[in-house]
Amino acid sequence: MLRAVVCVSGGGTNLQAILDAVKEGRITNTKIEAVISNNAGAYALTRAKENQIPAVLLSPKEYPDRAGYHAAFMEKMRELSPDLIVLAGFLVRIPKEMTTEFEGKIINIHPSLIPSFSGVGYYGLKVHEAVLARGVKVTGATVHFVDAGMDEGPIIAQKAVCVAENDTPESLQRRVMEEAEWILLPQAIDDIANNRLTVRDGYVRKV
Ligand code: GRF
Repeated sequence: MLRAVVCVSGGGTNLQAILDAVKEGRITNTKIEAVISNNAGAYALTRAKENQIPAVLLSPKEYPDRAGYHAAFMEKMRELSPDLIVLAGFLVRIPKEMTTEFEGKIINIHPSLIPSFSGVGYYGLKVHEAVLARGVKVTGATVHFVDAGMDEGPIIAQKAVCVAENDTPESLQRRVMEEAEWILLPQAIDDIANNRLTVRDGYVRKV
C-alpha cells in the first residue's frame, strides 16, 4: 500500500480529484495519510477533514524565519514518512533537504506543457496569463518528479489542451484542470502505486 501525503495551498480541486479516484477505484493500493497546507484559509484542509484525513497546517507565518519553517516542514515529513509526496497546487518551494531525502518520491502537477511557461514566477493564474499573452494555440498540464530545480524533474505525463479565442486566464485555468490536471494526477499516482513507472537516466518509462 502506497502511503501518500498531499501538499496543497488553495482550493484543492486536484486533491478532490485524487480523493474521488481513490473512492472510485481509479487509484488503487494507495492511502492518503495526510494533507498539509501552508495556508490556514485553504479549502483543501476542509476537504481533507470531510474525508477523515488528518489536515495539517504548517504556516510560514508561525516561524521566525524560512529556516525554522523548513525545519518544521522536514520534521513533519519525517514523522509521516510517506512513500509519495504529491504537490497539488502547493505554492511553497520545497526545501533542498527534502528533495534530497525524498528523492524520486515527490511529484508535482504544473498547469502548462513543461518546459513552456514553467520555472520561477510561473504559478497559478500567471501561467495562463502568459499563455494567452504569447498567443500559443495549445497548452496543457504536466506531472513530473520534483528535484532541486524549479519545474525541472523527470516528466511523468503531459496532456494538451487547446486555447480558445475567447479564453480568459480563468476560463483557460478551469479547462486545463478539467481536461488535463484532474485526469493526469490521479493516473500518475495509480501508476506509481502499482509500480508501472521507472526512471532511468532522467527519463520516466512505463513498465
Ligand atoms: C492548479 O492549477 C495546479 O496545477 C497549480 O495550482 C492549481 C491548484 O488548484 N499548481 P487546486 O488547489 O488543486 O484547485
